[in-house]
Formats: sequence, structure tokens, C-alpha cells
Amino acid sequence: MIFTLLTLFPSIFESPLNESLVKKAKDKGLLSFNIINIRDFTEDIHRTCDDAPYGGGAGMVMKVEPIYQAMQQVNAHFGRPHYILLTPGGRTFDQETATRFSRRPHLGLVCGRYEGVDERVLSLVDEELSLGDYVLSGGEAAALVVIDAVARLVPGVIGNETSSIDESFKEPLLEYPQYTRPQTFMEMEVPAVLLSGNHEEIRRWRRKESIRRTILRRPDLLEHFEPTDEDRRLIREIMEEVSEA
Ligand code: ADE
Repeated sequence: MIFTLLTLFPSIFESPLNESLVKKAKDKGLLSFNIINIRDFTEDIHRTCDDAPYGGGAGMVMKVEPIYQAMQQVNAHFGRPHYILLTPGGRTFDQETATRFSRRPHLGLVCGRYEGVDERVLSLVDEELSLGDYVLSGGEAAALVVIDAVARLVPGVIGNETSSIDESFKEPLLEYPQYTRPQTFMEMEVPAVLLSGNHEEIRRWRRKESIRRTILRRPDLLEHFEPTDEDRRLIREIMEEVSEA
């Protein structure tokens, strides 16, 4: 899978794309990255990428032409990617979107900067994406999050050679609590069931804690939860424990 990044700050990507999981996947030939400096596509002596907003107001706006020219060259050299503009005004990124992107051969991530980009850039991209309801100083950090979430779904990247992860098989539950050595840390004990060696008891405990955690922390996720008969029994137990407490 190819990721093409269009940015005014290419060096931001140097370290994150040369470490750990992404680095290994690059070395295995599963992922490749084109990092394109939008500034290389300006035509004036000052290499201007931003300008004052029409209508006045504070701040600068990223110009459309250098982005367009950069895209033209990308399309000619590598084929046109699925273009995504990272912007706080976009639809919120989630796991389903990451799965959808992981099935594409080539993503083009356009990183906005300053107070925004000229509205006409929107006509050049396929979608706009936001990480969440907060404002970053640019799209670069957001692009790195998208790359990380998508890369790990690409077959082979984390040892998932056979199947790309199918969202329909994924349950809307938070993970159960995990422990490793030591057994006691500052008087906090590992739950006895995890030391019991009883695999069925452990499975049941984990399922229950997963459900408990979701009820307490992310009840919104339960809207899409389809409980089994066992899940219903576990939910009853959790409710009884809550009312006893
Ligand atoms: N650029 C600035 N803020 C952003 C956000 N929240 N998500 C994606 N891109 C952004």
C-alpha cells in the first residue's frame, strides 16, 4: 500500500515513519511513502504557499495552486490516490474508516496548515477528515494517526497475513483488563481467576469485565451491541454487583 503525503513540513514525518511497526512494514515492502513538499510546486521567487483571506480577517490561507500542481505530479508519477484532506471541518475518523482505507492501494493525505486552506482545495479531494473536535496546528499529526491506524490493518503488517480485519466481526466492546508480572504491586493484586489456570473461568471473567468497562465508560458503544444469552447473564450479574455496592 502506498501513502502519499502532501505537506509544507516534510521533516515532521522523518522519525515517525522510520520507527517500529511502520519501519518494519516498509522494509518488508508492504508499505511505501511518498513525501511531497507542497512548497516545491510554487512558481514565485518567495515560494509562497499562503496568502491573506479575501474579505479580510486575521491569519493566512493556504493557496490552491501549489496543492493542485503537487497533485498533478503525484497523479502522473504514481497514479491518482484516494485524496483525503485533514481538516477539523471533516467527518470524524473512526475504525470503520480505517478499515475502508486499508482496502485502497494508494491514499493521498493532504495536510492543511495555518488558519485553513482555500475552499477550492475541497473540489480536488475525495473526502475531508477530522481526528476529533479540537484544533491542531496542522494536518501532519492527524495524517500520522491515520497512517498508524490504517497500516496495522494491511495484511502482513502485524502478522495478520491471511485476512484483512473485517469490521463486521468486531464487537463494540472495550478490551478487558490485562495484567503481567509482578503478581503484587503496591498491594494491588492480580485477580485470582487469572492465576487459576481455568481457561473457561478466565474467558467468562474477561467477557464480563469487557462488558462492565463498556457500560461504565462508553455506554454509547452499546447501541450496536448484540448480547448473547451468556452476555445477558453477565449483564445481570454486573447490575446486581452495582446495586449491592
Ligand atoms: N487540522 C487541524 N485540526 C485538525 C483535526 N482536528 N483533525 C484533522 N486535521 C486537523
